[in-house]
Amino acid sequence: MSPEIDFRQGILALAPLAGFTDLPFRSIVKKIGVDLTFSEMISANALKYRCAKTFKMLEKSPQESPYIVQIAGSDLDAIKEAVLILNDYEGIDGIDLNCGCPVPKIISQEAGSSLLLNLPHMQAILETIKKYSNKRYTSAKVRLGFNTKIPEEIAKACERAGVDFISMHGRTRAGAYKAEVDYEAIARAQACVNVPIIANGDITSYEKALHVKEMTGCKSLMIGRGAVGNPWIFHQIKHGNVGIEKEKILEMVLEHFDAMVVCYADKATAIFRKHLHTYSKGFREASEFRNRINRIDDETQMRATIREFFSQNN
Ligand SMILES: Cc1cc2nc3c(=O)[nH]c(=O)nc-3n(C[C@H](O)[C@H](O)[C@H](O)COP(=O)(O)O)c2cc1C
Repeated sequence: MSPEIDFRQGILALAPLAGFTDLPFRSIVKKIGVDLTFSEMISANALKYRCAKTFKMLEKSPQESPYIVQIAGSDLDAIKEAVLILNDYEGIDGIDLNCGCPVPKIISQEAGSSLLLNLPHMQAILETIKKYSNKRYTSAKVRLGFNTKIPEEIAKACERAGVDFISMHGRTRAGAYKAEVDYEAIARAQACVNVPIIANGDITSYEKALHVKEMTGCKSLMIGRGAVGNPWIFHQIKHGNVGIEKEKILEMVLEHFDAMVVCYADKATAIFRKHLHTYSKGFREASEFRNRINRIDDETQMRATIREFFSQNN
């Protein structure tokens, strides 16, 4: 029996970030105290073709529970087939539909944020997931609209489809990742539905988390980029802005790197560089460190360089 997500109390979720929130990163964040994790976006068509790379993306750490798999797609038959495949896969507590991706390749397939241009179709996809899924939760991750803001209509269509919760990024597709996040629009959406909404967008600190809760009236928050390089943010928000000791940062970075090696073997060192770039932000001589690690391919050398840099900065 999958655990209940306590929306009455309010939860903290890690946003899906393709290329970042993979199994190693999620396992670190989970240990720090996030309540809910999502897989990176997985194409319903890719699931249908059962390719090994796609199945690897479904893997989760044993601590990740509840764990939601996010799918992207538009074709009802492909969605149904993807759901039936996921039904055979244990350890998944819910299926989330991506209705926010702004990338042209996804838009051209009438998936992601383009579903916000056709709410009856978005609703039909969610109903299909709800109908065929054997998982406890069905959910949608949405933006405020495609070009114009229609948060209330979007939330109502999700509710009509019977979703258990909605994650709402407070920008339109046109707003990409830079426009100012409209928390009042999220508040308007939450005010017109009974389904819990998880507020998302630009939450980067404890103070901002309090502000977003107040502005949106949402008890639950979702954090993406604010957690990259600072997974500790979940601890800070839960326990009231507790700083992290420098020794703990070294321990966390090394643990993350070890998890990367388990997951990606000899590719881990290269993939981990982007995380080191953000972990080192704000440290002395960070740009020199970044230049150095960009040239390291060897795992042992990388570990030693991490150890040296983050201990010197103590
Ligand atoms: C690099 C990157 C990858 C993303 N990948 C996904 C994804 O796979 N699925 C999804 O629903 N949203 C994705 N998003 C959007 C985030 O989940 C989130 O809604 C957005 O970044 C705003 O939240 P933040 O300011 O806390 O990062 C991605 C965003 C970025 C920057």
